[in-house]
Amino acid sequence: MVHYSELGFVNTKDMFKKAFEGGYAVPAYNFNNMEQLQAIITACVNTQSPVILQVSKGARNYANQTLLRWMGQGAVEFAKELAASKNLKEIPICLHLDHGDSFELCKSCIDFGFSSVMIDGSHLPYEENVAITKQVVDYAHKYDVSVEGELGVLAGIEEDVSSDRHIYTNPDDVEDFVKKTGVDSLAIAIGTSHGAYKFKVEKGKEPPPLRFDILEEIEKRIPGFPIVLHGASSVLKEYVDMINAYGGKLEDAIGVSEDQLRKAAKSAVCKINIDTDGRLVMTAKIREFFAKNPSEFDPRKYLGPARDELIKMYERKNKEVLGSAFEV
Ligand code: G3H
Ligand code: 13P
Ligand code: ZN
Repeated sequence: MVHYSELGFVNTKDMFKKAFEGGYAVPAYNFNNMEQLQAIITACVNTQSPVILQVSKGARNYANQTLLRWMGQGAVEFAKELAASKNLKEIPICLHLDHGDSFELCKSCIDFGFSSVMIDGSHLPYEENVAITKQVVDYAHKYDVSVEGELGVLAGIEEDVSSDRHIYTNPDDVEDFVKKTGVDSLAIAIGTSHGAYKFKVEKGKEPPPLRFDILEEIEKRIPGFPIVLHGASSVLKEYVDMINAYGGKLEDAIGVSEDQLRKAAKSAVCKINIDTDGRLVMTAKIREFFAKNPSEFDPRKYLGPARDELIKMYERKNKEVLGSAFEV
């Protein structure tokens, strides 16, 4: 067992308190490889933003959970070095399990130094969701690890669970769920969804707005409680167009407007999850590079520009969308 505090991570308690009071959301960016991690840390140090590093099931399958945790630990040291070199303050970093699907997995992450875990029982019957979430909370809180639960189902793919329609969070359930489970934050479904194809919209029409009415009702039921939005990529058009211009085929990819996310970040939404936008940026820049430099084969040559563009994108998200940037 290693406690996260020995590795330099923090839990989400203080992060969410400040985010709630300050009217912003903490970015939760997924990482699977070194370049993504370098970009997230660099952007968050440069903008002086707190950050939640997310490890998903897909990431664990791809890169190995042990390696990812050590990379997270390395990221803490990298962030300190970077901040010192720029005369900036150190930033709080949380290492979070994204979409944990069992008690055993959450326990293994807690025992291995994660400072926050999500137990996603959203696809289970209500009482089973309560039971598994409470089991994780009881264990996690012994070590001061934060726990995120979820109520409601996002359309699209939620790990192994796929749903073709949103099941919005029922405001009538939230107070009972929070009370019975003891969770530290709650992911809700108000119209966001995972991936690059979030909405089916006729050409020229706008996707449906997020259900701010449900969010407001939830805020009334659990005042001051930190809310989480998953599936919050905007599927940035600039990069979708670049991918398509350089041989890709992403038709009808569409995301959540950044204006709506900015509005959400000012409310009780304290954590906003973004993965797909990072994937699009990397793919766009790599496609562009190969189209313009067909004889290059050194991965540093194409991963480097992709990483630089990722830094720019994350910095802009922190400043203009999440409002989490505290530049000096
Ligand atoms: O919530 C989904 C995240 O984007 C992670 O997806 O399991 O493919 O890494 P992944
Ligand atoms: P996006 O697919 O919209 O980036 O959502 C990511 C997410 O919710 C990770 O848990
Ligand atoms: Zn998610």
